[in-house]
Parts: sequence; structure tokens; C-alpha cells
Amino acid sequence: FVRALRSKGRKQLSPPGPWSFPIIGNLFQLGDHPYLTLMEMRKKYGDVFLLKLGMVPVLVVNGMEMVKQVLLKDGEHFAGRPNMYTFSFLAEGKSLSFSVNYGESWKLHKKIASKALRTLSNAEAKSSTCSCLLEEHVTEEVSELVTVFVELSSKNGGFDPRNAITCAVANVVCALCFGKRYDHSDEEFLKIVKTNDDLLKASSAANPADFIPCLRYLPLQIINSPQKFYQALNGFIALHVQDHLATYDKDHIRDITDALINVCHNKYATTKTGTLNDSEIISTVNDLFGAGFETVSTCLYWSFLYLIHYPEIQAKIQEEIDGNIGLKPPRFEDRKIFPYTEAFINEVFRHASFLPFTIPHCTTADTTLNGYFIPRKTCTFINMYQVNHDETIWDNPSLFRPDRFLNENRELNKSLVEKVLIFGMGIRKCLGEDVARNEIFIFITTVLQQLKLKKCPRAKLDLTPAYGLVMRPKPYQLQILRLRGGFLIQF
Ligand code: HEM
Repeated sequence: FVRALRSKGRKQLSPPGPWSFPIIGNLFQLGDHPYLTLMEMRKKYGDVFLLKLGMVPVLVVNGMEMVKQVLLKDGEHFAGRPNMYTFSFLAEGKSLSFSVNYGESWKLHKKIASKALRTLSNAEAKSSTCSCLLEEHVTEEVSELVTVFVELSSKNGGFDPRNAITCAVANVVCALCFGKRYDHSDEEFLKIVKTNDDLLKASSAANPADFIPCLRYLPLQIINSPQKFYQALNGFIALHVQDHLATYDKDHIRDITDALINVCHNKYATTKTGTLNDSEIISTVNDLFGAGFETVSTCLYWSFLYLIHYPEIQAKIQEEIDGNIGLKPPRFEDRKIFPYTEAFINEVFRHASFLPFTIPHCTTADTTLNGYFIPRKTCTFINMYQVNHDETIWDNPSLFRPDRFLNENRELNKSLVEKVLIFGMGIRKCLGEDVARNEIFIFITTVLQQLKLKKCPRAKLDLTPAYGLVMRPKPYQLQILRLRGGFLIQF
């Protein structure tokens, strides 16, 4: 393929790139932190270069302008997903996020999923004090999270908040998708949270079978264990969806699963191709469930780490809470009057860049980029980490400095916020950006309204990530002090 690409390049230039070994290509040159290696390679080869991962040619795109070219201006040409082994067993290839089938029916699928998510998130809250159902679910979960933190603290002093955060965020997704929340100690729930964790660990390095096809047939754990975990997760979701299909009542939409069934039964039911069948409904719920849980909980785990590492930043958020709402529960609409907190969240997105790449893209047709010829079906990596640490955009990018997002009047600089690349952009942009931003805001402000977070005495905090599909911080512990109306209550 690469030879064909390079020879075609005699007439039409192919992108530059490093020399590669037979079979393994440049796979082992990527190291423990591929986004950093690729940033280094950019210095030599420029914003667009080609390497080989195993036997697969991969186009790497860096630099804000080039990324915009690929995701916005030439969006249709780069909107596919590559045919990777790992993607193929995700929801048996019917996944909205990972399916290789890009076209009109995929576009309709995304529209349906987006509408179901929006409708349910904005649905009327059951209690009168919340503006919508999503706000109500999040408020309920964060209040439970504070209780769990207090319990953990009184038992152990310092504790690792990760599991409690994951359970709280998973519960928001469960409530949205299935109208059901679980106790943090529920066994079925913990099993699924653990399966998701195992899945991430198992997929934390690139699966070699994605890039060296013959390895698919070897009974090796690293190659086959992600599949085992995906199947367990699919099974859990399929059970819930089957149950909804059996009890569905069009006059009483309980959650996203019902909303999807409803859309499929109503509006699009007239055209055969314009609807989702039951297994596509399962895979859509699977997409929302999977995407909405690990990303948000990882972001919160990072946020709490930054807050204990920079207590002065935590104090500024607490001042903003005291000044704006005092003891009233935070609401989504408060984001407008919390510029510093919003700046902090955007700085976490930028600095941690816990999703260093988008999900891989793939060209849907022969195309050109920056004067180079790119054939159809070329796997494309978008290096979001590089854009978020580009010195031509960010002053001293390695510093964690929320203030960079505020103008001289201490208002949020929206045009700078738009330069943070964490949800992707264009046709394949994340479906859950609004949900995620609202959810993260409520979690952080509610926790800091009630608790002061502290690092454990003498603990050394490490802000470098452990590399994985979603980059988490290395495990850490924190301590809490309870706040009531600005007073500290010591445990
Ligand atoms: C896709 C980021 C939360 C649903 C994506 C992509 C990124 C991303 C980078 C891939 C874009 C691309 O391939 O170009 C994030 C981050 C989140 C978050 C950073 C939280 C901080 C959520 C939530 C949901 C969600 C809460 C839903 C409840 C999806 C879906 C896709 C997606 C369905 C696939 C879109 C497609 O393939 O067209 N997200 N996401 N995400 N996200 Fe999110």
C-alpha cells in the first residue's frame, strides 16, 4: 500500500515520514507516550506526515489549521472510521462511533442518537428545583458522591476518589440511558464498572492485531481480552434494552432507550432504511453509555488532582461559589456567572489532554492535503494533544494557568476556549459535549461548595498521565475538610 502510495506520489506527492521496518513498521518507535513522539516527529516532517503502524499506513495530522482543514473544510473526505480489528467487535460493527460504514444511513443514525440524548437531557425534571432531567440526575449523584467522600474520609483519612467518581458518573449515564441508578455497593453495578475498567486496561496499549492482521488468529491475551470485556458490557446493555422493548409505552418515555425506540417507531418508521433496528438501538445505547462514562469520570479525577496540587486555584473557585450562589445548589445556568470555574475546566481539558487523539478517522475518497495525495481508506490520526500544547497558540503551554482564558475584565475569552481541542470538530464531533460540560461544572462546584480538598501530608503528586485510550492520572489520594457557609469542619 505504502509503495503504491509512494509510487503514485511520483505524479502526486505523498506525505513525508520516517523510514519503517517490514511488518512492524514504526510501531515500536512510538514509545510509552505516542502523542509526544508524534509531536517530536512533527518538528522534522511538518504538520502532515505518514508512518506505518505494523502494516497499516497512518496519516498523522497536527497543527490547528491543518486539523481544521481535515475535520471541517474537507470533513466529508475524512469522516470515515478505519477497518480496525478492535472496532470490528464493538457492537458487532453496528456502532455509531466505530462502524466503518459512513454514509447517509450513518448520518441518520447520528441524528437520531443526538436527538434522543438532547430530548432526554432537556426533559422536564421530576423535582421542581431543577431546570431539566439531566441536571436533576447530576445533582442527585454529586450529593451522593459528597456523602461517600465523607464516609471514606472518616474511615481512612486519606483516600483515592477514583472509584467513587466512576460510580457517580456511571450512575448519571445509567439514569439517562435506562432510568435507573445503582447503589455504589450494588454488585451488578460494580461488576460493570470493573468490566469497563478491565476493558480500558486491556486496551491501554494499541492492540497489535489492529496493525498486524495475522496476529488476530493467535490466542494471545493482549489481543483477545478487549473482545471478552466488550462482550460483557454489550450483554449488560442488551439486557436493559430488551427489557425496555418489552415494557415500552409510547405515552410514557422513561429514558434514552425509550426515546430511541420511540423515534424508530414513529418518525422514521415509514422508510425502511431510515430507522434503527433493535440491535442498532442496543449499539446506540452502548455508544452513549461507553462514551459518556469514562471520559467524564477521567476529567473529574484529573480536576481533583489539579485542585489539590494548586490550592490557590481551588480557593479562587470557592470564592466564586461564595460570591455568586453561597449555599444554593449550583445549576447549569450558573456557568455564565462562573468565568473562573469555566476557565479552570478548559485548562484541565487543555493541559491534561486526556484524550490525546480523536477516535481514528479514515478517508472516504481519494483526496489531497497540503499538496499531498491521500488515497481512499487511509487511516488518519488527529493529534489533539499537539494542538493543545502548541506554542504558537498557547503562551507557555506546559504551565497550568486557568487565568489564560480570562480577559482584562475577568470574563471568559470564548475565542480562546474554542481553540481547546478535546471534543473533536465537524462531522465526527462528540455528541455529548454539552452534557459533559454541564455535568463537570455541577460536580466540581457542588463538591467545592461543601468540601475543601487537600493533598495528604508529605504525598508527592504526579501530574504526568498513565497512557491509555483515555489517559488517566496515576492513582493518588486526597483528604477532605467539610465546609459549611465558609467555615471549616475538621474530621
Ligand atoms: C466522540 C470527547 C463525553 C458521546 C468523541 C470524540 C471525542 C470525544 C474526542 C471523537 C471525535 C472524533 O472522532 O473526531 C469527549 C470528551 C468527553 C466526552 C472529552 C467528556 C469530557 C461524551 C458524552 C457522551 C459522548 C457525555 C454521551 C453521553 C460521544 C459519541 C461519539 C463521541 C456518541 C461518537 C461520534 C461519532 O463517531 O460521530 N467524544 N466526549 N461523549 N462522543 Fe464524546
